[in-house]
Amino acid sequence: MILILGGTTEAAALARLLAGRPGIPAMLSLAGRTQNPAPPPIPYRVGGFGGVEGLSTFLRERRARAMVDATHPFAEQMSAQAVAAAQRTGVQLLALRRPAWRAEPRDNWTEVADAEAAAVALGSEPRRVFLTTGRLELPAFLAAPHHFYLVRSVDAPEELPPHARLILARGPFAEEDELALMREERIEVVVTKNSGGSATYGKIVAARRLGLPVILLKRPEVAEVETVTTAEEALAWIERRLG
Ligand SMILES: NC(=O)c1ccc[n+]([C@@H]2O[C@H](COP(=O)([O-])OP(=O)(O)OC[C@H]3O[C@@H](n4cnc5c(N)ncnc54)[C@H](OP(=O)(O)O)[C@@H]3O)[C@@H](O)[C@H]2O)c1
Repeated sequence: MILILGGTTEAAALARLLAGRPGIPAMLSLAGRTQNPAPPPIPYRVGGFGGVEGLSTFLRERRARAMVDATHPFAEQMSAQAVAAAQRTGVQLLALRRPAWRAEPRDNWTEVADAEAAAVALGSEPRRVFLTTGRLELPAFLAAPHHFYLVRSVDAPEELPPHARLILARGPFAEEDELALMREERIEVVVTKNSGGSATYGKIVAARRLGLPVILLKRPEVAEVETVTTAEEALAWIERRLG
């Protein structure tokens, strides 16, 4: 069995590829953060494993032959646990991770370590902010209630800043739609994670076209692991391991 740690577009793409390879038994694991996730085309499980210990037991019991960490680049804890469990059990580990976005000459980016730093970087003057960091990062912005926030997330946050409008939506988002939304809402600054990939890159291009600054949360440091950037490359790696 191949265990895929999911929660990303890339994990879903790999699950689709594996669904077409019945000779390679695989299971997708989801954290369970998203309500009503689209059902994957291969067997799946939902919820934490219970740390390194739990994941190691799972890998042993299911006789996993390999594990693909296709979690989001900001899922720092799960990625670290995957490395530790792979070392403990001897199960081979591959990371499937899209490359980070890189600034182009016309981009006006401020890179910060976390959401708290992003809230500070917004400054003391009230601004109209397009906030797409995900609902779990939202509490940090309650400390900067003088801004207006256009908050977009997949699931509703528990609490919104006092001046906010919530859009519940799941990507991909087209560049032209992002441009129209940002114009309509008179956005002055975008705050986002440096997630990488094309599905949510439209807002970065829209900000560039509008000459707007972007505050990016930097990716957490992760352990060195053999890494590929596409589901196709991950499938090729799996086939080589099983061959
Ligand atoms: N962080 C983001 O910005 C972001 C964005 C989009 C999607 N996601 C996805 O959302 C999920 C959670 O992200 P996070 O940042 O909360 O992760 P995290 O902080 O790295 O992980 C927290 C705990 O959640 C459980 N977990 C995480 N991913 C899991 C998976 N694929 N299968 C089973 N359990 C998992 C693990 O629990 P145990 O210790 O009990 O095993 C882990 O210790 C991931 O699947 C990630 O790919 C995250």
